[in-house]
Amino acid sequence: TAGQRVAQDLAGVRILVTAGGTREPLDPVRFLGNRSSGKQGVAVASRAVSRGAEVTLIAANLEVDVPEGINCVRVERATEMADACHARAAGTDVIVMAAAVADYRPAQQVPGKIKKSDAGESLTLELVQNPDILRELVTERNERGAQGEQCIVGFAAETEPDDAARLAIARAKIARKGCDFLVCNRVDEALGFGQDQNTVDVLDLRGEVRASASADKMSVADTILDVVVAQRANAR
Ligand code: CTP
Ligand code: CA
Repeated sequence: TAGQRVAQDLAGVRILVTAGGTREPLDPVRFLGNRSSGKQGVAVASRAVSRGAEVTLIAANLEVDVPEGINCVRVERATEMADACHARAAGTDVIVMAAAVADYRPAQQVPGKIKKSDAGESLTLELVQNPDILRELVTERNERGAQGEQCIVGFAAETEPDDAARLAIARAKIARKGCDFLVCNRVDEALGFGQDQNTVDVLDLRGEVRASASADKMSVADTILDVVVAQRANAR
């Protein structure tokens, strides 16, 4: 708020944030999408700017506005998001992958509108896997030998309602992805997506919970950035 001083603990730090949900085109008028609003990712970008960071936001189909002071790159589909991330990753100190990236895209993009008269009683779509952007970015970083220099944060939205089982899923996921931290939250149709509140655990690569928060998405963003700041202070 106006007049309140915010610690500039990310001054000069270059941060790349992805937010929103990708849309995978099916034909000229249809896509496969998801329920991500982009709120949590935009909150991370917004708090990072307030704390002094140079922020680039790779934005996919946001339902929220992007505040001033953020360098915003709009993309639509997963492969565009991948290209936008790869083009900028090497010059970045921190990457926060908050976007909901479609795991699959239609195998073919039909040039004209799919017609009922052609498809008939049922329609089967063939989908192929999208690149795993987070995993690729981690691999690239490690190949550059920049493990200690670039901090990479992934997100995992899980529908598993049991806390212990959800944590186990998240631990397996961060081990698979190899990122420094994984922000895990529970989602279902009423929870997580589109809401202003969020409940998260931030895991490190060893599977330990570094921080937890249940608050508005701006506060949750600060919690995530606190973990990053602490890590960078340790790495120095
Ligand atoms: N992610 C990504 N590229 C993809 C899919 C996911 O970069 N093609 C990123 C997301 O932005 C998120 C993290 O990976 O930061 C975890 O996404 P999630 O969907 O939970 O993981 P998946 O490996 O796709 O596993 P699942 O089968 O549970 O969807
Ligand atoms: Ca996925």
